[in-house]
Amino acid sequence: MSKPSFEEILALQRKVNIVDIIGDYVQLVKKGKNYAAKCPFHDDHNPSMFVSEEKQIYKCFVCGESGRVFDFVQKYEKISFYEAVKKVADKVGININIDTTVKSNDNKYSDQYEIYNLSNKYYQNNLNTSLGKIAKNYLSSRSINDDIIKHFEIGLSLGDNKLSTLLLNKNYSKNLLVRSGIAVASNNNIYDKYRDRIMFPLWDINGKTIGFSGRIYEGNDQSKYINTMETDIFKKGSLLYNYHNAREHVLKEDKLIIVEGFMDVIRLYTIGVYNVVASMGTAITNEQISLINKLTKNIVLMFDGDKAGAKATDSFIEVSSNYDFDIKIVRLEEDLDPDDYILKKGKEKMMDHLNHPISLFDYKMIKYKNDYNFDNPNDVSKFISKIADAVASIKDDIVFNLELKKISKLTGVDLDLLKEKIVKKEEIKEEPVKKEYKAKIRETKYEKASKYILYYMIHNNDIITYYYDNLSYLPDDIDRKLASEIVLFYKKYKSFNMQDFMTYLEDNNELVKRIIDIDELNIKNDFSIEEINEYIETIKEYEKKKQIKELSDKLKNESNEVVRKEIAKKIFDIRIKENK
Ligand code: UTP
Ligand code: MN
Repeated sequence: MSKPSFEEILALQRKVNIVDIIGDYVQLVKKGKNYAAKCPFHDDHNPSMFVSEEKQIYKCFVCGESGRVFDFVQKYEKISFYEAVKKVADKVGININIDTTVKSNDNKYSDQYEIYNLSNKYYQNNLNTSLGKIAKNYLSSRSINDDIIKHFEIGLSLGDNKLSTLLLNKNYSKNLLVRSGIAVASNNNIYDKYRDRIMFPLWDINGKTIGFSGRIYEGNDQSKYINTMETDIFKKGSLLYNYHNAREHVLKEDKLIIVEGFMDVIRLYTIGVYNVVASMGTAITNEQISLINKLTKNIVLMFDGDKAGAKATDSFIEVSSNYDFDIKIVRLEEDLDPDDYILKKGKEKMMDHLNHPISLFDYKMIKYKNDYNFDNPNDVSKFISKIADAVASIKDDIVFNLELKKISKLTGVDLDLLKEKIVKKEEIKEEPVKKEYKAKIRETKYEKASKYILYYMIHNNDIITYYYDNLSYLPDDIDRKLASEIVLFYKKYKSFNMQDFMTYLEDNNELVKRIIDIDELNIKNDFSIEEINEYIETIKEYEKKKQIKELSDKLKNESNEVVRKEIAKKIFDIRIKENK
């Protein structure tokens, strides 16, 4: 891969604002000078990550993840550093010289990704050949036009083995094709796995194709959809259909609509509703919930109008109850799914539902109401106990009071009595995010000395020279490496500035993280040279102790008297220096 120069990356870094880029991935809320976000690198419930516009860095106080804009994109998208640089450059419309078509070694599944990419293109092309006529007609009959086909990369698998042959000719092994779920093996031969199906690519959260779902379109004695089996990179439970397309719209509108099927996502797209993902018909997993939680707390559940859809709604509510979501619900009439609903009743009616979803509380009320007969006092009493908890946990005072009134009207129970029975739960105040979350291991005096020396080097050019002339050694590998890079940078550019230096570190995220941690000391820059000398002495003392330890170990294992004497003398000399 051709790499860009430091100067090129630096020019890019100076044009980019980390807040804009990270804001495309997670929701940022302004907090004083900085921005706060739920950290996408661990299962975060409260915003624990901050993004500093001034320093152009991000850091999570809980999991410790930190870095520059490039590190964020690299980690989030699971790509190489230089691919991340390219991605950021593309986002801000800057041309940068990186050839990312060359495989990056750090992705051990790149062959598999390539196979899906090629297959995806192949399937899409089939739809436009004469062999694709019937499939195309089927799609038109479902009002799926060329624009939709293109946007959702819909394709077609044929009844032959051309895809396997094509991929074998490109030197992908039989074994890999089978393992990727593109082909099946039998008697030492391989055959195309998907035959005569409309193909929907399935994407990971960043839009890379990682599998397929194939739908029958003629004949109906087989299962409706066949999905790629679980592979190293395809885990159905850890993705949501359309996540990568929906992300920016969800962030913009601060709301996500969740449906069951592909076709529901696709149909909503045709009426201009883009903040939608599909659960793909299976029970929602914790991993999927955590993906949603990164984008918004406002969810609209719009599962199929049938019994199965109601069940899926209940199960979602149950599984997500640990999260602080604000869930609203749409239940469609006549057992319709969103796709059929739009086709049958039109856009206006759908928008009316989406603009007036019912609250989670009302949803529960409707559900329980069917189970009780309010003419029977015993049932009324049972009903009240059943809903008491849900009412008591309503956070908003006004909503709480209105709901009590509704229940009173519905059941005929006196409002004052209800107020006595149902006491609003006190909201548990969230603990403010603690700065140092991890149990802090006590720092040794050497660690402290290294940290302070580095801090002053970062903030004062003279200390860089002073370190180089008087010490040029630190006990910890990373600290030592960092210090020597600072010295090299300073010698080369005649001045030091932390942001440029971090860019200069390129793909060395370890050093970037360390310098961010050190900078957090945030001490005043008014030190005395005596203070620096003290730290330097501390490090020197460490060096001596280390040498003595190494020599003593040697002495223990040495039997030759002459050599033993030499070692003993060396130890003695070091000790004398120490006490001088
Ligand atoms: P649906 O049966 O509701 O499919 O299943 P759909 O989206 O409405 O599709 P059409 O309108 O019949 O073409 C919902 C989702 O469940 C998954 C798919 O992801 C589908 O979109 N599913 C369904 C399967 O994975 N396999 C199946 O056999 C059926
Ligand atoms: Mn359907």
